[in-house]
Amino acid sequence: MNSYKITTLNDFITLKQKDFPFAKGELSNLLNHIGTAAKIVNKKINKAGLVDIIGRSGVVNIQGENQQKLDNFADKVFTDALRTSGECCGIATEENQNEIVFTEKFAKKGKYIVCMDPLDGSSNIDYNVSVGSIFSIYRRITPRGEKVKNEDFLQEGTEQVAAGYVIYGSSTMLVYSTGNGVNGFTLDPSIGEFCLSHPDIKTPDDGKIYSINEGNYIFFHEEIKKYIKYCQEKDEDSGRPYTSRYIGSLVSDFHRNLLMGGVFLYPQNKKAPKGKLRLVYECNPIAFIAEQAGGAASDGKKRILAIRPKSIHQRSPFYVGSKNMVRKIEDFIDERKRNN
Ligand code: AHG
Ligand code: MN
Ligand code: MN
Repeated sequence: MNSYKITTLNDFITLKQKDFPFAKGELSNLLNHIGTAAKIVNKKINKAGLVDIIGRSGVVNIQGENQQKLDNFADKVFTDALRTSGECCGIATEENQNEIVFTEKFAKKGKYIVCMDPLDGSSNIDYNVSVGSIFSIYRRITPRGEKVKNEDFLQEGTEQVAAGYVIYGSSTMLVYSTGNGVNGFTLDPSIGEFCLSHPDIKTPDDGKIYSINEGNYIFFHEEIKKYIKYCQEKDEDSGRPYTSRYIGSLVSDFHRNLLMGGVFLYPQNKKAPKGKLRLVYECNPIAFIAEQAGGAASDGKKRILAIRPKSIHQRSPFYVGSKNMVRKIEDFIDERKRNN
């Protein structure tokens, strides 16, 4: 009987903790709490059509978007899990205008803060299209034991101690990095554990997939229109024309491109002058994973992780995936390079 070696998320986190000689298990504990919250959200998503969890919550969130019931549910589950972990002193999420300060004594001493998109791609949830949750973990910069402050949430992406996402797709996966590479875990519902299924993920330097909402074509600036035409031209050496794939959930589009090679674009455009995606809890964590897997992430001119956020919900143009494809987009955006 061949032995089916299972490495659960918990096993792996404990194993990897040894890579950090001074680690006292706080980050491990925090990551395990995120894994548990993901299982609870997953259970609800899997029954979305059967329980009263689809559709709108009736609330218009701070983004001015109609909040879905599942946005709300996921936000509460992750907030409670992070609060009770005792390792996190506050969080910033897409669903709340300001950061949430944990005032409980056991939480205030937590040395980490977390930024989250509790449910990404929520416009898809009612139609059974895959969605995700995105998390980003930093050490707090204000003194431990005091109330966490806004500045704790406005650190550059390079300061992340860990980041990752959950993708609720044909299977449910948790993909994360603590800065030593990227590993993917698939939820085995029969034992209720995330099990290591994609060790040491590396993304190809090149790919043949481009992901962009071409419905916005008329709103794109010239250089993006030119790049889309470049993707559609015939050129055997570079494998063009590329394939266009766009799900409308950042986590799903990114995850496919991470494994197969490809590039995701959400440019600023006449409808969204600063872009649509949020730097702190969408771009930074995804950029961290991309770079840890050998890829790249840019706002078209600058490395995403090097941007100093000015506000929690600030938006950014976002180009992420295979590094040669991201560099090519930067060349199209850089006037000087485009014309020669
Ligand atoms: P969220 O559901 O958290 O608001 O995120 C939705 C985002 C992202 O997941 C996706 O890539 C993008 O919105 C799709 O935007 P368009 O529908 O404008 O293409
Ligand atoms: Mn999102
Ligand atoms: Mn969201």
